[in-house]
Amino acid sequence: MNSAIISPSILSADFAKLGEEVRAIDAAGADWIHVDVMDGHFVPNITIGPNVVAALRPHTEKPFDVHLMISPVDSYVQAFVEAGADIVTVHPEAGAHTHRTLQLIRSLGARAGVALNPGTPWQVVEPLLDQLDLILVMSVNPGFGGQKFIQSQLEKIGILRGLIDGAGLDIVLEVDGGVNTETAGDVVAAGATALVAGTAAFRNGPAHYADNITALKQSSSTTVALSGTDG
Ligand code: DX5
Ligand code: ZN
Repeated sequence: MNSAIISPSILSADFAKLGEEVRAIDAAGADWIHVDVMDGHFVPNITIGPNVVAALRPHTEKPFDVHLMISPVDSYVQAFVEAGADIVTVHPEAGAHTHRTLQLIRSLGARAGVALNPGTPWQVVEPLLDQLDLILVMSVNPGFGGQKFIQSQLEKIGILRGLIDGAGLDIVLEVDGGVNTETAGDVVAAGATALVAGTAAFRNGPAHYADNITALKQSSSTTVALSGTDG
């Protein structure tokens, strides 16, 4: 069964016991751990810094999928990679030289991603394709968990899927914001291969994490199976 990579966002975890939460969501079947880094400037919320990422690193061997919503961003990339980030995703609006930022991320040995806000056109990625390991389509405006999925982003996901396949590139297409069992099927049908889920992954506490992740995987694989492309 083909199902999407599930990357639970610890933004929805209990911050008073983050290590425990990361271990629980890992054991529940998370593929990656999504870390939302916010600075109160690029987005209207403040979350965690590299010290917290470093403190969490011993709690799981799953890849840390670090989403930087900070500006300026370049001066913090190295600290996050040294803290244990495996994938570092940046917003093109967070610095004047996104191509250079992506080169920097790769030069430090991490995988490089670019995040597109709902109002950012897909064309932004075209000159960056050879520097990208991941494209993150934001299906909410970044800053907070628990927001409603913005349907208009499905078209952008589809266009990006065509672009990646057309160029024969090995780029993960990830979607972030309002992903749940209602929306995951449409997101994967449109072409996404990785799903970030905060609210939907962490809902109802640790006893439910495995069920939450299984439900997300099932919702994301149903459409694949129905479309006849399931291997
Ligand atoms: C929003 C963050 C998301 C958020 C997703 O700025 O980038 O990762 O945590 O949360 P849900 O799944 O609750 O929309
Ligand atoms: Zn995120």
